[in-house]
Amino acid sequence: MKFLLLLVMLTACAATPQDLSGKMFTFPQETNTAHVRLDMSKQNLDAVTVCHRSFTDLKRGHALFSLATPDNENGFTIYWNEAKKEMDALVKNLQTQYIYLDYKSNMWYSICTTWDSETGLVQMWFDGQPTVRKFVTSGSAIAGNTIITLGQEQDSFGGGFDLKQSFTGMISDVHMWDHTLSPCDIQKYVDRLNFSPGNVINWSALEYQITGKVLVEDKQNSCY
Ligand SMILES: *[C@@H]1O[C@H](CO)[C@@H](O)[C@H](O)[C@H]1NC(C)=O
Repeated sequence: MKFLLLLVMLTACAATPQDLSGKMFTFPQETNTAHVRLDMSKQNLDAVTVCHRSFTDLKRGHALFSLATPDNENGFTIYWNEAKKEMDALVKNLQTQYIYLDYKSNMWYSICTTWDSETGLVQMWFDGQPTVRKFVTSGSAIAGNTIITLGQEQDSFGGGFDLKQSFTGMISDVHMWDHTLSPCDIQKYVDRLNFSPGNVINWSALEYQITGKVLVEDKQNSCY
């Protein structure tokens, strides 16, 4: 009964969107549990754009964004591979790699990644700089229920967290669209100009659940 009540309360919390403008999630501790789960209602993604900002000093691999479906634990994943010094974008478990990126510690980076199922092309904007358009997979959507986690990388649907792939630092401004943004729209996000918020994940109306030690704090050093 108590458990049921807790479940109802959790569901009620998750259902209230919050405006996190000017705020960030702080992940202050290396664990294989602490994470933020983002809720989205959309089930079929024929195309995707995901944008986020992050700040870390990790010197190992870490996930910046992890979207899993029951069929694909890496439905849409953004992962830094430290051994190969590359940013990986995974779509439906298939991988594209972006190398020669100047990824430094203790700096905010904006990363936007687009994919559409028609062309099958992925492109990443690393701090506003567009990378090569690369083929990953085409012909079908990212389908089924989705679980999105920040702070942990899912090796199974909603779980399979690995301390050595976890994120510590800060994450902010997470948006997701069900279409590819134009380069101009991405530039607006990067430059913090007036951009149209994500229609699937909206940082200004975010539905989320925190597990473990993750804090919602005012973004520091924001002198712009
Ligand atoms: C995002 O959230 C803001 C604040 O609630 C709202 O004004 C805006 O319409 C939302 N945008 C989308 C695309 O849902």
